Amino acid sequence: MVYEATVSAPVNIACIKYWGKRDTKLIIPTNSSLSITLSQDHLRSTTTCRADPRFERGDRLWLNGKEEVIKENGRTWVCIEELRRWRRAMEEKDKKLPELSEMPLRIASYNNFPTAAGLASSASGLAALVSSLSTLFSLPQTPSQLSLIARQGSGSACRSLFGGFVAWREGLASDGSDSMAQQVAPETHWPEMQALICVVSDQKKATSSTAGMQATVETSALFRQRLQVVPSRMDAIESAIKQKDFESFAKITMADSNTFHACCLDTTPPIFYMNDVSRSIIQLIEQLNKANGKPLAAYTFDAGPNAVIYTLDKYMPVVIKAVQRFFPPAQDLEDRLNVMPAVEKAGFPMMFDESKVVKWEKGAVKGLIHTTVGDGPRVMARE
Ligand code: DP6
Repeated sequence: MVYEATVSAPVNIACIKYWGKRDTKLIIPTNSSLSITLSQDHLRSTTTCRADPRFERGDRLWLNGKEEVIKENGRTWVCIEELRRWRRAMEEKDKKLPELSEMPLRIASYNNFPTAAGLASSASGLAALVSSLSTLFSLPQTPSQLSLIARQGSGSACRSLFGGFVAWREGLASDGSDSMAQQVAPETHWPEMQALICVVSDQKKATSSTAGMQATVETSALFRQRLQVVPSRMDAIESAIKQKDFESFAKITMADSNTFHACCLDTTPPIFYMNDVSRSIIQLIEQLNKANGKPLAAYTFDAGPNAVIYTLDKYMPVVIKAVQRFFPPAQDLEDRLNVMPAVEKAGFPMMFDESKVVKWEKGAVKGLIHTTVGDGPRVMARE
């Protein structure tokens, strides 16, 4: 008898960033964070777990078709063993259950976007792993309880167990038992909210988040100041989301992205995740917001140069046109210089100062992904 489950899980992009651990083994963060789950129609990881007593002993894992070693006591190993422990407890209570906890596992996971390009592939990947294994094991645990396990695979993964707007509460316990994700609002709460991902680079980043954040914890004084402001930012952004107050949401999101990257710069040696194109995107959004009199869009950058721009559906055409105008994706630079009339037609007389947006180059933005707020993990198949 073969037991198998396939689950897909979404990407999430933080508005209040997780950066720093107070326990690197258990992955307990130095601050709470908040993210938006993006639609799986565009970005997702899909994982199949199979248990079969006839498999050779030992678990095996493939990521995008390439086998990865599951290191004993490594992050993936910890996630698998914790879930096995929960399954074993069920089997001990109910002797009629098949002994899945004793069977070797074969796990295959695919991303439909480049790994390690600053697009949170570890978040959706580990969330898909934990969700598919818990589905295979028929575990009764809630998404928040499962987030305790996903967190130990990759911190940001714990937020991908929910759709919509998600907080990861840092918690107080030294064993991490209260450091878990919680949904602040479901994906249906604010349907006008959308995201535009500007792919600036699909290359692997030079400094991983894991290494970068601990270097910041150890060397940055600014980082300690950031920890003082995060709690009030968390409160403010949660109430902005609940009230659908885009202006406040945008201001806090941009401020926190900037504080996070300032902490990276304040690290010894400094870490540069953004590049000239990223900085130009910041200037473009700042100019659009200024011309509009209040924020119509918010940029945020993770540990890489790609921008994620949050905006409302009514502003999205303007944002897309503005990005295409300044960062034409193809050779048709000349054609795109005539975009402003279209922007005006969309109802926004954007009299912004174009000279303030510097350093744009042809083809600087490699691709745009226009997406929406999405749901949590989806069970695709189970037998
Ligand atoms: C900048 O979750 O990748 O994207 O816990 O070491 O696996 P580990 O780090 P990871 O860090 C993500 C950092 C971030 C901010 C965020 O997603 O909150």
